[in-house]
Amino acid sequence: MEQGMRNLNTLFKRALFKLSPRIAERLNIDFRLRVPNRVFLEESVFGYLNELAAESDHDIKTLFVGIDKHNWHYPRLLLCQFHSLDIESRKAVYGPPDRHWTGSATRMADHYGPNAFDVVVANGLLGFGINSAPDFRRLITQCERVLKPGGLLVLGYNDRPDRAPFPVLPVVSEFFELFVPPIAGVDHHLHRVDDAFQHVFVFLRKPRALASDRSQLSRYAV
Ligand SMILES: C[S@@+](CC[C@H](N)C(=O)[O-])C[C@H]1O[C@@H](n2cnc3c(N)ncnc32)[C@H](O)[C@@H]1O
Repeated sequence: MEQGMRNLNTLFKRALFKLSPRIAERLNIDFRLRVPNRVFLEESVFGYLNELAAESDHDIKTLFVGIDKHNWHYPRLLLCQFHSLDIESRKAVYGPPDRHWTGSATRMADHYGPNAFDVVVANGLLGFGINSAPDFRRLITQCERVLKPGGLLVLGYNDRPDRAPFPVLPVVSEFFELFVPPIAGVDHHLHRVDDAFQHVFVFLRKPRALASDRSQLSRYAV
């Protein structure tokens, strides 16, 4: 009986979304997934980003990489300027109409240009399109390029050999600083969500100066 009601509710929400995403949005409809790693992303990570946005003197530009139905309500959760992209054109309906791009994250810097975003959230891509070590390296170098110096990358993935059968931390450490965000319950740059997916979030910051610049600068440090 309860399951039947839930199915009806889902059908109604889908039909309304098809009819008019605008009306569905006004009615605050969403397709959220109720699993622990989603709750952590939507409440804890987005809560932290909203604190940053509240403290900032400018609009925080956030890029959400890879978007699906269950992310459609994210612009409503975030107090940021929300941009999205996905390689599949059929996913464009789930991004903001004027701030969504259809293309590959492995080439996104050609589209956005360098130093475009304050925050990039790349969640659920490893093993879902970014499936090899070279593609992963491309993703990370592109994240580094589109982020402003000091910008934040939140990388989320299922830490399992079937999804991420290549080294992750050694690659991200080449381009980013690891950091521990002030989020309740987080005490490491890699936060494990205790769920069946073995989902982890890694918190990274683009250095304010490139490693080569830093070594140059250190020559002049007193
Ligand atoms: C498992 S879903 C994750 C969606 C979302 N990022 C999230 O956290 O829920 C993976 C999405 O990434 C997209 N995707 C896969 N490879 C991609 C690529 N190279 N560039 C952009 N999007 C990609 C897929 O089309 C799909 O919509």
